[in-house]
Amino acid sequence: MNNSKDTTDSESKIMDAQGFDKWSENYDADVQESDADQRYPFAAYHQIMSRLIELVQPAPNKLILDVGIGTGQLSCMLADLCCQVTGLDFSDSMLAEARKVLPTAHLIRWDFTIGLPPDLDQYYDAVFCNYAIHHLSDTEQRELIEQMGRHLKPEGCLLLGDVMTETAEEMASAMKVDEDMWDEEENYLIADKVRQWFPNQRIEFERFSYCSGIIKVQRD
Ligand SMILES: C[S@@+](CC[C@H](N)C(=O)[O-])C[C@H]1O[C@@H](n2cnc3c(N)ncnc32)[C@H](O)[C@@H]1O
Repeated sequence: MNNSKDTTDSESKIMDAQGFDKWSENYDADVQESDADQRYPFAAYHQIMSRLIELVQPAPNKLILDVGIGTGQLSCMLADLCCQVTGLDFSDSMLAEARKVLPTAHLIRWDFTIGLPPDLDQYYDAVFCNYAIHHLSDTEQRELIEQMGRHLKPEGCLLLGDVMTETAEEMASAMKVDEDMWDEEENYLIADKVRQWFPNQRIEFERFSYCSGIIKVQRD
């Protein structure tokens, strides 16, 4: 998971698809454990999931795009509420896990380092990127956020849940708490920085723990 200490544009995609393939089997259990301990990196993960679902206001046939869908735990709750899910991920094994819980979803093998698939011609009620965007450099993150925003329906929203803070100072404090296990390779979002990237967008930050939160970008 590259931190913000050195927010360079150098390649930051540290764990590759094969790394995630290996993790896929134990991923959900690892998340549970970290969340139960209320520790980095997955502190408040389930609260974040519940809030994301609430923010989507699920309804039959709402269209959802889940970027970095992983094992599909978030999207399957939305599919259970009759939303239609499209999911992207570059790990075959993560996609295989997602398929088990999302039998009818449109799942696409795709590396989002280069943005979204060019043939993605749909507009979505909500686009998620949950605990996945930190694998990108600043430039890649900004580009991906822009592209995800372009795929929103009017009044749709982009929701980013992850290890994140509102300010650089808070990120530095979180790092200090968990310096023994902090992953220096990951590049976590800081809401203030995202606001600077998109000064004309409505960007809200909700804090869920000392190291995690949600950024909501509302399409005007
Ligand atoms: C930490 S998991 C998060 C999974 C899920 N969104 C969740 O909330 O639990 C990160 C996911 O992003 C995927 N991922 C990471 N980098 C990616 C990339 N460049 N392109 C596509 N998927 C990527 C991984 O395969 C993995 O499934």
